This record gives sequence, structure tokens and C-alpha cells, in this order.
Amino acid sequence: MNEIVPADKIADGGEAAACARAPIGMLCELTHRCPLQCPYCSNPLELDRVNTELSTEVWQDVMRQAADLGILQIHLSGGEPTVRKDLEDIVEVAAKVGLYTNLITAGVTLTRDRLKRLKDLGLDHVQLSIQDVDDANAEKISAYKNGLEKKRELGKWVREFDMPLTINAPIHRLNIENLPNIIEFAVEMGAGRIEVANIQYYAWALKNRAALMPTRAQVMRSAEIVEEAKQRLKGILVFDFVVPDYYAKTPKPCMGGWGKGIMNITPQGRVLPCHAAESIPGLEFDNVKDRRLADIWLNGQAFNMYRGTSWMKEPCRTCPRAEIDFGGCRCQAMAFTGDATNTDPACKFSPLHADFVAAAERESGVPNPPPFVYRRLGGAKTDAVVD
Ligand code: SF4
Ligand code: FES
Repeated sequence: MNEIVPADKIADGGEAAACARAPIGMLCELTHRCPLQCPYCSNPLELDRVNTELSTEVWQDVMRQAADLGILQIHLSGGEPTVRKDLEDIVEVAAKVGLYTNLITAGVTLTRDRLKRLKDLGLDHVQLSIQDVDDANAEKISAYKNGLEKKRELGKWVREFDMPLTINAPIHRLNIENLPNIIEFAVEMGAGRIEVANIQYYAWALKNRAALMPTRAQVMRSAEIVEEAKQRLKGILVFDFVVPDYYAKTPKPCMGGWGKGIMNITPQGRVLPCHAAESIPGLEFDNVKDRRLADIWLNGQAFNMYRGTSWMKEPCRTCPRAEIDFGGCRCQAMAFTGDATNTDPACKFSPLHADFVAAAERESGVPNPPPFVYRRLGGAKTDAVVD
């Protein structure tokens, strides 16, 4: 069992008890480089440059520390993780120390030989992100030509090597009407799981919210489509349906609770409780180059800031759902209300909930949404647009 806290710390209950368990998963953003420019990318607006990325040796040491800490799954992500030439060296160490390794890829840079090599070195799982199953629309969303063709090819190799595959489909205004075809695509690709992930509006997605927000009617219809497909594809395809916050009544327990199960490491080595945590002022992020992972998990300022429930204000503090959703998402509370200790505005008890819903209804109702601000180095500053 992945218990890590010394008995004296557990004994005082509260926050210490909340982190008594080691994180289950760790998201490793190996790089922010990516050939695609999706306008809903979860990377920060200020992308890390290549010359600031962690070395192979540091990432390998992070894998060893993760295993010692009791982490079970490693998600190798980016940007596009396959642009790192040393991906094999990192996967090899991760597999050797017993971590379950998941490669999260856009699937346009991998070759058959490289995938085979990664599999032979111990890669366990591939998670392929798609933009749409319509070529022109996929190209418009990613600002990348012929991506879909390359993804189909990757799917073929994944099947050939008998590897488990998840399709990750971020859903928004531009592709929501294609959801039935996206689900069929996942079946054709031989995927065992699909994430129908309504966009969460942080970072680039927040910047592009007015261009991405679907209508309430579209979201309701998509939920019905998923429900029907779930029944029809029982035993073939497992569904993860990420409910869109803007049309929810209560928030999701973001990250499964702050500092509860997930660690996130940026290309430069900063260790975050969630991928968007850098948007919250006042948090101090430790770096894997300076401090051990276990110490950061237990004692890091950023991890302890919103761990458990003692930081909560009303209405969360006395709410029966406090231990269920942990007050929702700190980053969304920060982005929409200007204070990360406020209730997530996705919650119907938040005083700003009506404004939150109104923003979605107003933006999704505009017949001609604004063009995308594409995700690229410096793009957020220059409002770079490809249309
Ligand atoms: Fe969750 Fe807070 Fe809303 Fe209660 S008041 S449902 S704890 S976000
Ligand atoms: Fe940071 Fe939800 S995205 S807590």
C-alpha cells in the first residue's frame, strides 16, 4: 500500500491525514514543445522554452523517487512528449522501477519503429488526443495539416503491438455536433476507453472561451449521446464523460481534491498540485532539482495551501459536500472570482454562480464566435490568430 506519512504526522489528523496516502498518479510535462496549436491547451500561457527543460538524468531520478514515494502511474505528457529524443531513456527507467507508464500524445510525430521500441522498453499504455474526425475541422482546431491521417496510422500500430489505447476527445463548440462520429472513430481505432472531455476553461481555453463554449442544448444532447453509446458499447468501449462546469449545479472534485492524489511536474521541474496552479498568486512551487518529491508532497507550501477542508470559507465550510467535491476547483475560483479561497462559481451556492452561467449562455449564443488565439510561444501576448 502506498502509505508515506510517519505515524506522528498521521496522529494529528486534519491536513496530515488528508495526505496520508501517496499520490496515485503523476503528470510529467516533459516539454511544452508541440507541433499542434490547440486553442484549449492546458499548458500555461507562458510556455517553458526548450533550453530550460529538465535533463534526462533529472527525469530518470524523478521516476525513481516517484516509485519510492508509492506513486503507481506516470502520465508522460507535454506539449508533445515524443519530441523529446530521450523519451525512451525516461520510459525505460520508469518501467524498471515498476511504474505504470501512459504516453499522452497527439500522435503526429511517432513512428512505428519508435512505438515498438517504447513498447519493448516497457511502455504500458497510449492515450491519443484527437481534435475531430473531420479532416478540415481537425486542421482548423489544431492549426496542423493531415494530423488525422497520422493518428489513424498510429492506431494501426497500437493494435499491431497489442497495446491498450484511450482516445482523448476534448469537446467544444466546434466539434460537439460530431460526437457520434468521434465515438465511432474510437471503436474503429480499437480503443478500450474514450474520454469525452468537455473543455475545462483554464489557461488557453479560458483565453478562447468565447470561441469554444457550446450551448446548453448541445451539452445536454451530448450527454444523451454518451449515455446511449455507453449502453450500446458495453464491453467494447468504456466512457469517461467530463461534465462541463458552466452548465453544472455542483462542481467536480477538481484533481480529486487538492494535494490528495495527483502531482504535476512542469518541463522546468516545478512541482504543482494541478496543471493550472501557477495561475494562483501566493503559491510557492518547489523544484525537483532542489527538493525531494516526498518532501514536496508532504510539506510543500503549495500542496498544503488548499489541502483538506480547513482553508474553506462559507458556504463550503459547513456544506455537506465539502468532503465530496472539496469546494470544486481552486483555479476556476481564482480565474472567475479573483480569490482562490472562494467557492468554485460552478456551484449553485456561489454568489457568482448566476454570472458564471450567464457568461456561458451569452458566449455560446453568439452566432459568429471570435477567431482562435492559437497556443504558441508568445501567442498569448500577441493574440496570434490563424483562421
Ligand atoms: Fe461544494 Fe462548496 Fe458548493 Fe458545497 S458550497 S457543493 S462544498 S462547492
Ligand atoms: Fe487547478 Fe482545478 S485546475 S484546482
